[in-house]
Amino acid sequence: HLDDFDISEDLGFVLEDPLTTLPDYYRVWMDLANNLTHLIESHKLRDRVHEMPVLSPHLLNNHRELMLAHLALGFISMGYVWQEGQHSPAQVLPKALALPYWLVSRRLGLPPILTYADSVLANWKLKNPAGDMEIENMDLIFSFPGGDSSKGFFLVSLLVEMAASSGLMGVLEVMRAGSDLVGVHKGLAKVTQSLKKMKEVFKIMHKHVDPDVFHGTLRIFVSGWRDNPMLPGGLVYEGVSNEPILLSGGSAAQSSAIQCFDALLGVHHAEDTGAYLTRMRDYMPPAHRQLIETLSVLPSLRDFILACSSPDLCQAYNTCVSALVDLRSYHLNTVTKYIIVPGNSARTTGCPLRGAGDALKATGTGGTNLMSFLKSVRNTTQNVLIPER
Ligand code: HEM
Ligand code: ALA
Repeated sequence: HLDDFDISEDLGFVLEDPLTTLPDYYRVWMDLANNLTHLIESHKLRDRVHEMPVLSPHLLNNHRELMLAHLALGFISMGYVWQEGQHSPAQVLPKALALPYWLVSRRLGLPPILTYADSVLANWKLKNPAGDMEIENMDLIFSFPGGDSSKGFFLVSLLVEMAASSGLMGVLEVMRAGSDLVGVHKGLAKVTQSLKKMKEVFKIMHKHVDPDVFHGTLRIFVSGWRDNPMLPGGLVYEGVSNEPILLSGGSAAQSSAIQCFDALLGVHHAEDTGAYLTRMRDYMPPAHRQLIETLSVLPSLRDFILACSSPDLCQAYNTCVSALVDLRSYHLNTVTKYIIVPGNSARTTGCPLRGAGDALKATGTGGTNLMSFLKSVRNTTQNVLIPER
């Protein structure tokens, strides 16, 4: 099972031991990606991309090389599009980026835009390889402007995702348990513990990420070209298609773990919200997406629990749902602090010349109408609680 869904016992959906170098032929990609912050801040990245040769992706041989190439091309593309800020996004991605990016993406089953699977799951390394995976000993492979706050945002997200790994083991236990009540109970308890741990780890965001830097500097670089007021018509991938292509920006809505928990617990999101979350599966690695889809077609766990009327089991289910509601409520508060509040003060001081400024005020980088979207998701989760009799 673990291999089928590309899950690691300790790291969950996080990519184990990502590569940090590519064959020498791809040096120009790595040079740009490794110096991205400097090239963006000195406004030189677009010129450097215009000098790039069109490389063939055929010398990329395995999954880890393809993932690193996808990550590097993703960082370069986001930097290229947003180098000049919200008022002059690029409308065309040059062929030297667009064509290999398209081909690499097709081999991976990912879209040609920076995804959560790139920027969070596959973008980490250890400072001291013999040391532990704790934030002080971790660094990103590639970075956007915004210094430690930008790094902190991706690394804390990674640690939250790692805390979901035991929950995924719990999900698999419930799947395997069938109608064995003790097994189901144990699996659910594991998911609950993991959700609680995710919330605890989430809290360190406040220590590592400054809201003004996140909002004013980082956010624009994970923004996409679909449902985005800054680039409403999409982006032309030169050498691929003459029509602009619409692709959503990155967000943890592309995290497979949370969608697995929803699928296990039978949380079905309403209308537009549900459609958006389902569409985000196209931005996940196919093996991870497969676990969500496998869970979604299993007989309903909630119906099973209702039918066997064991108060213990009902309670285990409700505790688990409550932990997920609680994580989503905590997330909502965080969004207020990191998006709504800095958005308001940037408007009153009238100086958001850099970054996404006011343009993304009510829109998430993933393109949702963020507060109403997130409240709907939280409330729908709450609604699956089983009423006490
Ligand atoms: C969705 C913001 C950190 C999990 C979203 C959305 C926004 C957002 C605006 C709506 C989608 C869109 O972008 O349009 C933030 C901010 C964060 C943060 C400002 C930190 C500063 C995290 C972390 C997690 C997470 C660490 C890990 C659990 C999710 C999930 C969704 C989501 C699962 C989809 C909705 C749901 O299933 O509840 N986030 N996020 N976010 N975020 Fe975050
Ligand atoms: N999805 C997060 C945002 O909208 C990153 O800022």
